[in-house]
Amino acid sequence: MSTRIRIEGGVPLSGTVPISGAKNAVLPILMASLLTERPCRLKNVPHLKDVTTSIELLAQMGAEVGLADQWTIELDTSRVAHHEAPYELVKTMRASVLVLGPLLARFGAARVSLPGGCAIGARPVDQHMRGLAALGADVRIESGYIVAEADRLTGARIVLDTATVTGTENIMMAAVLAEGTSVIENAAQEPEVADLARCLNDMGADVEGAGTNTIVIRGVPELGGYDYRVLADRIEAGTFLVAAAMTGGKVHAKGADPRTLDAVLQKLEQAGARIDSGADWIELDMAGRRPKAVDVTTAPYPGFPTDMQAQFTALNAIAEGTGVVRETVFENRFMHVQELQRLGADMRVDGNMVVIRGKDSLTGAPMMATDLRASASLVLAGLVAEGATLIDRVYHIDRGYENIEEKLGQLGARIRRVTEKAA
Ligand code: UD1
Repeated sequence: MSTRIRIEGGVPLSGTVPISGAKNAVLPILMASLLTERPCRLKNVPHLKDVTTSIELLAQMGAEVGLADQWTIELDTSRVAHHEAPYELVKTMRASVLVLGPLLARFGAARVSLPGGCAIGARPVDQHMRGLAALGADVRIESGYIVAEADRLTGARIVLDTATVTGTENIMMAAVLAEGTSVIENAAQEPEVADLARCLNDMGADVEGAGTNTIVIRGVPELGGYDYRVLADRIEAGTFLVAAAMTGGKVHAKGADPRTLDAVLQKLEQAGARIDSGADWIELDMAGRRPKAVDVTTAPYPGFPTDMQAQFTALNAIAEGTGVVRETVFENRFMHVQELQRLGADMRVDGNMVVIRGKDSLTGAPMMATDLRASASLVLAGLVAEGATLIDRVYHIDRGYENIEEKLGQLGARIRRVTEKAA
């Protein structure tokens, strides 16, 4: 059986779309349940493949995981007995590496397979390992596994070479149970790092400065459980707003937090969109206009997110004028370009840059999703292309977008999932 997404383009999107909880906050917070023997409860959890993989990983270790309701997960890690994340799971989701810090902090031992995940560059984990070693752990690589051991971690000052998101989270989760004070300098400032810190503080941790580039963590002997509601997914929200802008439509993103999307909203305004927002909503009105091309350079937060790069590449494909998109966070993150060219997009890759000359129209064609965010850009292009677009390997989309075809369908898009017997 093969499942594809089929889109008939050309409908300006209109209406309200509910924004789900943030995948990139849910994953570390689920793993943070390993830091305590007490029960934990996480609310606003989206239905995503990466969430299922995280639950499977925790369950394999001996955690009890259940659903309180459709969007609420309950976790009890009091009986966790295995301290290992096997290759089979880690290769499908790189964020599995987030169990390293919590396991080491609570049990003094962890074995985590070196990650696979999205094929978007080398994506090493050296900073995770260096940070945990600075806290006093013995960290080494053995037969493809990161092995970390420590009696009790001790606070340290860690200056990261690159502001890695999951690296910052891993070190932060280890340091909350260390003896003494830790400082992470050049820390990632992403809203999801701050959300994890808020949850850790609810558990009784003492973390200050998360969301800035210096995080101070005063270790505590033990932590309690959490009952926490995760923040909204800024990347999902941004993707729907780009969809509205590309189709000349008007979309209200309900639950979105505009404070986490400054760089993206600025670019959408430059593209000609009118944007209104409140504490937990953003509305974009394109009033039937064609977007203007925009230049974009990705950077760590608060810069323009790499996870929105492919979507803006798609926007430029049908914009008025020429746009230049530079990728500075990951190498090899232009795999969507080849696919978008199949719809007639005029784009040329030159090193870490893609130059896009906007076309009046694109034409539907079969395409193949290559990674999570790239696949979102294919859907966006399909929404404006003339005729039918068929997207293969939709499991990439399901890793990070909850019910994307249902949500777009509610906004008027002609989109559905088709399952056929393989030829
Ligand atoms: C997280 C997000 C992902 C997003 C990315 C960048 C999660 C689950 N995923 O991924 O959606 O695209 O941030 O915003 O939150 N690096 C090193 N050494 C390390 C770690 C990273 O050199 O030990 C480099 C990477 O190769 C990359 C850069 O640092 O060039 C940023 O990567 P990082 O922030 O670690 O990305 P992730 O945390 O994997």
